[in-house]
Amino acid sequence: MLTKDLASATSGAAAATAILNARNVYNRLLESPENPQARLESRLFLQQQLAWTCQRPHDFPTEPTRLTHWMEQNTLKVGERYAGYLDRRGQGAPRQYFSTRSQALSFLQQVAPTKLVDGSWLYGSLQHWKDIRFSGLILTYLEELGEGDPSLNHVILYRRLLAKNGCDTLPEFSDEHYVRGAIQLALAYNADQFLPELVGYNLGYEQLPLHLLITAFELAELNIDPFYFTLHITVDNASTGHARKAVEAVQACMPIVDDKKNFWRRVSNGYRLNDLGLSADAIVQSFDLEDELLRMLERKRIYGQNIHSDFCTIGGLTVNDWLSAPGRAQMFLKTLEEKRWIIRNEDPQKSRFWRLIDGPQAPMTGVFDGYEKQLLHDWISAQNVTRQAPPKRRNFRRYRKRSTTNYRVSSDRTDSSGDVNQEVRCVQRELLRLSHEQRMQRLIHYMSPSKHTSPAGLFATREFVCAFSGEV
Ligand SMILES: [Fe+2]
Ligand SMILES: [Fe+2]
Repeated sequence: MLTKDLASATSGAAAATAILNARNVYNRLLESPENPQARLESRLFLQQQLAWTCQRPHDFPTEPTRLTHWMEQNTLKVGERYAGYLDRRGQGAPRQYFSTRSQALSFLQQVAPTKLVDGSWLYGSLQHWKDIRFSGLILTYLEELGEGDPSLNHVILYRRLLAKNGCDTLPEFSDEHYVRGAIQLALAYNADQFLPELVGYNLGYEQLPLHLLITAFELAELNIDPFYFTLHITVDNASTGHARKAVEAVQACMPIVDDKKNFWRRVSNGYRLNDLGLSADAIVQSFDLEDELLRMLERKRIYGQNIHSDFCTIGGLTVNDWLSAPGRAQMFLKTLEEKRWIIRNEDPQKSRFWRLIDGPQAPMTGVFDGYEKQLLHDWISAQNVTRQAPPKRRNFRRYRKRSTTNYRVSSDRTDSSGDVNQEVRCVQRELLRLSHEQRMQRLIHYMSPSKHTSPAGLFATREFVCAFSGEV
């Protein structure tokens, strides 16, 4: 059936391109996951990704019995490489990932399509809440959702991280940026047909990667709260955390009467899905401060081209003139520099242009968001990585404590009256009329990747946690 789906869909190249576009799959599964066409497209997309990934080299063990040893070896290797990184940094080496704060913020934005569906690949496991083989996967999903506590829900944490740094208005990304999120959502809604691939994917995603450690460390150095990343270092740990549960889930789902070899091959393919899409390293390497700045100015041009007053000219043109046609941003910046509106390699405060946009009393306050201002700031000051102070190792703890305190919200908040809680009261009333089985189905409905961060979704998650803890 699935092979037939793929064959018929790929018979026309144009149709296949349209159908298998990662961004389309991603958006449609978030907006209308019940739509049969969206479901079909997501299956085709998964099959295509699996077909690609099968041909790539991999380090996955050939025998299930070697799985635990393989995970422990991976953890050891990552630990050793991280120790090497810390040593180099301690001796004065520059940051490996983020030479500037704007690069770090750009990274946070570019991984957002994946992080905003964090945990979603496990959603389909909820349907099997009565089956003991799925309990590890379900517990992991519940933890991704913070068990209904918004201060621990991973997607909410990520949204807050973006908002706190003024980079929650995401620019348009390439299709490649959506590949990982689309794979995750496609697994969420096709769990029953892709169980071996799902447990394999989960196994790969929950292993501790080196880039997570480096990212958390360098964000802290740049005064950007790394809590979202440090949280994953702890909850995904290989001793008792999600990485260990992922190994146990593979073992629990291993068939005892069917073709074990085929199952294992499919687990391996699912594991390798983690290699697709943009890696952290690729995102880091693709960043160019001036290119990013020019792209940002080009985006803003559309909104600013007719609203500047014409009382002053820069290089013989009004600001509206400069913004009236695409492709002038570089020349505009150069002219601002020549006319001393911008003084590069100096504190941005010395630049008249910067004083126009920075601070609550600035004439253009609010025109640029946090990320956009950071790009301008870093470009003007021409921040150089080699000038950074050597890192301090105690950064994480400071942030973790503060974050937990700031983000914790009483889980009773949704029980108070008022319009803002209307949604939760509706769900509560709805649940009262249902049998236990129907009730669980309704809770699962509200715990989907696009709903679990809403008040109703958080409430449903808390209810599910209570019911599920009675089952396991
Ligand atoms: Fe997570
Ligand atoms: Fe996790």
